[in-house]
Amino acid sequence: MNSLLKVNDLKVHYLLANSVVRAVDGVTFDLKENEIFSLVGESGSGKSTLAYAIARLLDSSYVRIYGEIIFNGINLLELSEIEMEKIRGNLISMIPQDPSAALNPAYTVGEQIAEVLRYKKGLTHKEARDLSIELMKKVGIPDAEKRYLNYPHQLSGGMNQRVVIAIAMALRPRLIIADEPTSALDVTVQARILELLTGLVKEYGSTMLLITHDLGVAAEVSDRIGVMYAGKLMEIGSKEEILEKPLHPYTQALLHVVPRFHKKKRRLKPIAGMVPNLSSPPSGCRFHPRCPYRSKECVLQEPLMVEVEPGHWVSCNLYAMEASYHA
Ligand SMILES: Nc1ncnc2c1ncn2[C@@H]1O[C@H](COP(=O)(O)OP(=O)(O)OP(=O)(O)O)[C@@H](O)[C@H]1O
Ligand SMILES: [Mg+2]
Repeated sequence: MNSLLKVNDLKVHYLLANSVVRAVDGVTFDLKENEIFSLVGESGSGKSTLAYAIARLLDSSYVRIYGEIIFNGINLLELSEIEMEKIRGNLISMIPQDPSAALNPAYTVGEQIAEVLRYKKGLTHKEARDLSIELMKKVGIPDAEKRYLNYPHQLSGGMNQRVVIAIAMALRPRLIIADEPTSALDVTVQARILELLTGLVKEYGSTMLLITHDLGVAAEVSDRIGVMYAGKLMEIGSKEEILEKPLHPYTQALLHVVPRFHKKKRRLKPIAGMVPNLSSPPSGCRFHPRCPYRSKECVLQEPLMVEVEPGHWVSCNLYAMEASYHA
């Protein structure tokens, strides 16, 4: 399968007054055309930073980005803001966690969809209005003609997230980046919104990078899963490989706290110890202070990502050593 996006040795550092936070620190992965790739990991591991870096939505005044983000053959990091603006919405869309932060409280929800269509697609007012109402119906908003005139505060969180999805999908982008798209919503609507989103991604032939805390969600919708810890990708594999044959001690620890995806216990729970401070991360393998299998080598030596079986990558000295024995 062809890659739509290739991220090569990406580093994203926040320059603060007295420290540098290495939120993403050498991440390499790709997204294949038409797949749903879930990124999982504890809070503070750098998932949102990675997502916003790909969409080039970080504040360049205090963020430094190194490496490559190749989208459709173009390195996004080399584009000017004007060139990037053409890609956003048309080719890459972002769905954030909290719909109320994504919508402007001063405009009706219909206007906000229509504006994208006028600005990015050059539609007239009437065309944009008609297509917006059609899109609102498509994302399951009842009484779309009436709701078109509502302001965000007049709609529920779930309805607002449907509006955000309509905006994100309006131009049928190739890549959707969804950062915890349902976690701010009432649990009763989460599954329906996720179903809507993944259905549209499939229907439009888009690719989705889905960030989630919820391994149950990742298990349900992903083709592949990447496990992130302290600014690094620890393991990448197919959904089955990650959930049924996890190799990295961190992935194994995440899964132990989610025994067989028991319906009521699907969220990641903390693993003993803390996610390290990313302004002074541990030496060697960043997981070593919490790892039950750590050796002296893990304190000194940062493991390389190795492909243990085709498409199943892991960054752990246990496997790096094994790979070198076989070499
Ligand atoms: N704007 C910022 N300025 C400075 N540091 C930041 C900023 N945003 C994130 N960080 C830091 O970068 C690291 C990664 O944060 P990030 O929000 O990317 O993690 P995350 O995996 O998305 O977490 P969560 O699951 O809680 O959303 C954290 O140490 C965080 O404190
Ligand atoms: Mg986040």
